[in-house]
Amino acid sequence: MSIIIDKNSWVLEMDSCAYALGLSPNGYLTHRYWGPRLQHADDYPLPKDPDEEDSFNLPENRRLLEYPTAEGADYRDPCLCIRFQDGVRDVRLRFVDAEAEQDKDILKIHLTDLSYELHVILCYQIHSRYDLIERWVEIYQEGMKPIDVSRIFSSIWHLPDLETYRLSYTSGKWADEMKMHHEILGPGKKVLASRRLITGHNGNPWFALDDGTATEYTGKVWFGTVAWSGNWKTIAEISENQMLQILSGINDWDFNWQLQPGERFTTPHAIGGFSSEGFHEASQKMHDYVREEYLPHGKITRKILYNSWEATTFDVDVHSQIALAKNAAEMGVELFVLDDGWFNRRNDDRAGLGDWWPDEKKFPEGLTPLIDEVKKLGMDFGLWIEPEMVNPDSDLYRLHPDWVIHFPGLDRTLARNQLILNLAKNEVQEYLISVLDKLLSENDIRFIKWDMNRNVSEPGWPDASGDARELWVRYTMGVYHVWQTLRQRHPNIIFQSCSGGGGRVDLGIMKYADQVWPSDNTEASARLCIQENYLQLFPAATMESWVTDQNEAVIPLAFRFHVSMCGVLGIGGNIANWSDTEREEAKHWISEYKKYREIIHWGDRYLLRSAVEYAVSAVLYISQDQQNGVLFAFRTYCAEPVETPTIYPRGLAANQLYEIVGQIKSGSAWEEVGIRLSLSNFSSVLIPINRI
Ligand code: DGJ
Repeated sequence: MSIIIDKNSWVLEMDSCAYALGLSPNGYLTHRYWGPRLQHADDYPLPKDPDEEDSFNLPENRRLLEYPTAEGADYRDPCLCIRFQDGVRDVRLRFVDAEAEQDKDILKIHLTDLSYELHVILCYQIHSRYDLIERWVEIYQEGMKPIDVSRIFSSIWHLPDLETYRLSYTSGKWADEMKMHHEILGPGKKVLASRRLITGHNGNPWFALDDGTATEYTGKVWFGTVAWSGNWKTIAEISENQMLQILSGINDWDFNWQLQPGERFTTPHAIGGFSSEGFHEASQKMHDYVREEYLPHGKITRKILYNSWEATTFDVDVHSQIALAKNAAEMGVELFVLDDGWFNRRNDDRAGLGDWWPDEKKFPEGLTPLIDEVKKLGMDFGLWIEPEMVNPDSDLYRLHPDWVIHFPGLDRTLARNQLILNLAKNEVQEYLISVLDKLLSENDIRFIKWDMNRNVSEPGWPDASGDARELWVRYTMGVYHVWQTLRQRHPNIIFQSCSGGGGRVDLGIMKYADQVWPSDNTEASARLCIQENYLQLFPAATMESWVTDQNEAVIPLAFRFHVSMCGVLGIGGNIANWSDTEREEAKHWISEYKKYREIIHWGDRYLLRSAVEYAVSAVLYISQDQQNGVLFAFRTYCAEPVETPTIYPRGLAANQLYEIVGQIKSGSAWEEVGIRLSLSNFSSVLIPINRI
């Protein structure tokens, strides 16, 4: 049994870790434990009430609540802030009962307010095989009047007492996403957040914590994230008592939700995990969970795509695209994606967004002739759209200028010459569903690249029927609703999430999108680092990577291919200009990739040497049965003289024999003696690993 219940105490046991909570003697729902699984249920510490106090620190300031609210004399950040109709802003939740759905591994704990008809349900679902806990919160009220919810986080995680707490997180910007930071926390708060309406290039809700000594393969690591594609916030706080708590969920900046009597609000789901073997195991657990249980289409083969954006930008038409499609098919590409520029009056970024029908000059007979040709060439057809946006110069905007996010009377700030449709509005959602449904029904489209190319400004919703600050959440719910409806009506279409590269990369969108576009930066040496950090958070099967012409004078085609082969391979260069030799080489790497992609996508990934830290880097993918693998090693630039360091493989079965670089040794021998390589600047190798 994975949920062990002993009166009002619960232990959530997973394969190798456990999480315990329970009612303290004074009746508070208290955190007890999160770490390695212990042998007996009564090994876990009992819930306790803090007893130390002084007049400036009452005991409650030390309490480890499972869901702290703004209440009494606790000065740490709470998860829930509410203003009741009479102006009271203390929320005093107390335990009512608990229900365990053992068949679903779900525990639900009901809490209610001491004075008001406010009910909160804390939900926990464990994913034993992956040592992951999914958490979310449901809230409803049965009072007579609406109440204002100004903060409602999905989770708080308490860590055991450690001498030092180190927080790992990512930051970045457009074309420079996913920079990893490891930062020792001092007293006070570290706040990570997005208030851009989307997840953002600038950070990601993912975090990890350790005692400052964990490495890729050693040490305890606690990690988590929240499945949300809108404004998010994470607060890591070390109190004056040296206790660490980390909270995350919907960003409460400018947020307010008017909870009506009888209405139920459910937070996005948070996920937390524990690894006792460093960052590698933390990422592997998340990868396994996401690809096995989470992605909409599960473990289907990822098709090698060609995307025309960097080759033709807006200058697309039926002829140029057919020419590219022929080139792509000859190389072995399986999916041809027509990017921006195909729809009504879209010749640059100043017009067209909103008018989702083929431009009459570029595609006089619609998309059908191109799609037919692509199919004849043996490929699937995919299409770029940016449904959340509108150009002021579009039929849609001329008809519905009030459909965009704006404040009345204020200028509407343009970014990339576009405004954001207010997807919080039902009529906008319904319009998009009908227009996109028509597009997908009338054309044989197998893949959609869903883009989103600006951040918000003037976040107003003048005709909102309730509190306009609900926009922040209703917008994201609207995006999910449109996406979900289209997926239900067109279940076989694969969606890609793109937002000017990696502006919307999170577990919220991965419920709908099997693949994401991590960055607009396709320069292979920069991409190596972006990918390395991306793969700490998400699996390779979600990570699209195109071979383009960026920095081609310096970086050989093979290197560019090898980098892209570490994820879902795509080609994005202007292949019409590639020489015969380059095309032959591309054909070769594409056929090699077809041999290894199932291992790369569904096997285990081992980072052998970091590209972020070293000029010579290496990564190994091995099938989960440890039969076959592939190792990629890269050298970017470093001044001579330099000897290529030995690369030590990992993940091999110790007693089995493997053939690598023409030699046969046992797995343990390979891991001990390593592989000697000789790499010059901007060179790379693909090394097959085969068990004998
Ligand atoms: C941003 C995307 O990241 C690019 O790949 C491309 O689709 C452009 N938008 C098109 O406008």
